[in-house]
Amino acid sequence: MNILKKTFSVVVIVLIASSCTYDNMETLYPQDPECDTTNISYAMDIQPIFNDNCIICHSGPTPPAGFSLVDYENAVVVAKSGRLLGAVKHQSGFLDMPQGANKLDDCSINKLESWINLSYPDN
Ligand code: HEC
Repeated sequence: MNILKKTFSVVVIVLIASSCTYDNMETLYPQDPECDTTNISYAMDIQPIFNDNCIICHSGPTPPAGFSLVDYENAVVVAKSGRLLGAVKHQSGFLDMPQGANKLDDCSINKLESWINLSYPDN
């Protein structure tokens, strides 16, 4: 009986411990663990997102919404406006961007969010 109880406790502890580990992993890495959002470089991570998805419209002398995303000087204005994240996350109250195309992948959105949270480093 005693052995049965002990065995049972061990099983329960292992189950609880493993479920906790799983929860923590989910919290720590809610998205793709391959997506590095800790060392964001404007040149390497952020501008390429704009180049691939945005500057086809957001460039030239009269860009839509007055927002050009061709370089840091312009992009930082959009970021500081507070409209950038809401637009790419398709939040209500914002126009969905990129307009007429699929939502950006989670990794790109997370990188943009990190860059904004880091106060838009020009690196
Ligand atoms: C097909 C053209 C097109 C593409 C591609 C595009 N935009 Fe836009 N964007 C627009 C237009 C048009 C507007 C709205 C202008 C207006 O109505 O004032 C706009 C508005 C915005 C706004 C203001 C949104 C608001 O709710 O105030 C932001 C921020 C923005 N775009 C960011 C982006 C970003 C970031 C990308 C790339 C991920 C992107 N856009 C891609 C055409 C585009």
